[in-house]
Amino acid sequence: MKVLTVGGGAREHTIVRALVEDGAEIYAAMGNKNPGIARLAEDYLLEKGTEIESVVSWAEDKEVDIAVVGPEAPLGNGIVDALEDRNIKCASPDKKAAKIETSKEFMRDLQSRYDLPGRVEYEVFDDIEDVEDFLAHYEGELAVKPVGLTGGKGVKVMGEHLENKKEVIEYCEKVLEEKIGGKPKVVLEERLEGEEYTLQVFTDGENIIPMPLVQDHKRLFEGDEGPNTGGMGSYSQADGLLPFLDQSIYDKSVNIIKETLKAMKEDGKPYKGVLYGQFMLTTEGPKIVEFNCRWGDPEAMNVLPLLESDYVKLCEKIAEGDISDLEVSFEKKSSVCKYVVPEGYGIEPEGGNKVDVDEEAIEDAGAQLYYASVDERDGEIFTTTSRALAVVGYAEKLEDAEEVSEEALSYVEGDKIQMRHDIGKPESIQRKIENMKRVRGEI
Ligand code: AMP
Ligand code: GLY
Repeated sequence: MKVLTVGGGAREHTIVRALVEDGAEIYAAMGNKNPGIARLAEDYLLEKGTEIESVVSWAEDKEVDIAVVGPEAPLGNGIVDALEDRNIKCASPDKKAAKIETSKEFMRDLQSRYDLPGRVEYEVFDDIEDVEDFLAHYEGELAVKPVGLTGGKGVKVMGEHLENKKEVIEYCEKVLEEKIGGKPKVVLEERLEGEEYTLQVFTDGENIIPMPLVQDHKRLFEGDEGPNTGGMGSYSQADGLLPFLDQSIYDKSVNIIKETLKAMKEDGKPYKGVLYGQFMLTTEGPKIVEFNCRWGDPEAMNVLPLLESDYVKLCEKIAEGDISDLEVSFEKKSSVCKYVVPEGYGIEPEGGNKVDVDEEAIEDAGAQLYYASVDERDGEIFTTTSRALAVVGYAEKLEDAEEVSEEALSYVEGDKIQMRHDIGKPESIQRKIENMKRVRGEI
């Protein structure tokens, strides 16, 4: 089976490796030369997925059978529609369905129109005076979100990044004036308190196969301080749950996704691919922070390598629109993923620095290495301004997976790089359990 993959990050390296392990021949379109993907691919095109015409023509020339798209931007720009027009089936959503991520206004409106579980109070604004009027009467804290895509870096939360209403207004003004996220619109929604987690599902639009839960760490610095990033690392547990939640919360989260997919279908936007739900566990139960129309990055690295079933077959079935007869299972292992990023990532990143990676030592440590936005030149690896690479430890026990990931990190050296060592460590997990208890008023 010839598979086109789109994207050059660690998530796509994970996707490519899983497809190759199940016998696929990979044709990879990527904006940077990801060395991991380049080595595994039959052929590659150095082109961003948003250059739709060029990627689609290349895929057609290569006579690929199906396509799997990693990042949200090409999905939002309609790459699936263009591929399907040329009879290339896709295991990813079309432009209409991708709106669940590309427009936070659409997503919140859908939840409210269909009275979906997990929704929050929100308002959408395109005029700063209306924001001011609204805030004059609003009590409580808010999250401020540009309507469109910002790579996870556009959301600011009152009490965390914004001190008071004045700062909320200033940031709303900036979003509207500078069209942050691509549109002069901003969503204000109630601030949720609790612990965040990710549930990803495979879906054909109707049937779903839920995966183990993952907890990402969006903040740049240890102790969950600093600005939001695309994600600095993540962990998952062998039982598919997380240390601060039980099976009933998992089941409720699955139900929220099921109901949302039903609403998407009824709304004329049937969704296929991987749907990613970002949840906040609050005192009122799970609430949706956002949906993503793709695998999470880093979350894909936690769960996809543990998939025991045939990933190529699964993608084929998703692309054909029927996964009802598939049995899918995951290895019962915990995982800890830690990203290495350039210094200043998320603020003022400095790329172009050489990184030395001892791939053999990482493998001997029992970890996996996934390259992200690095460039390979003359056999050497250089950082860009995005996340550089990730290491992932897998083991039955979470503590052991964390230790494996730390050993792996010791084999990565370079100038001007940074990482979060605290992810998955017992103290960090304990803090999350206690935070949940605090939010529930138990301590
Ligand atoms: P998003 O891009 O919508 O996932 O938002 C990025 C991050 O901002 C989330 O992972 C949360 O940490 C935070 N966030 C978003 N919405 C809210 C909210 N309503 N309440 C509290 N935090 C939020
Ligand atoms: N881990 C956050 C994301 O993939 O958007």
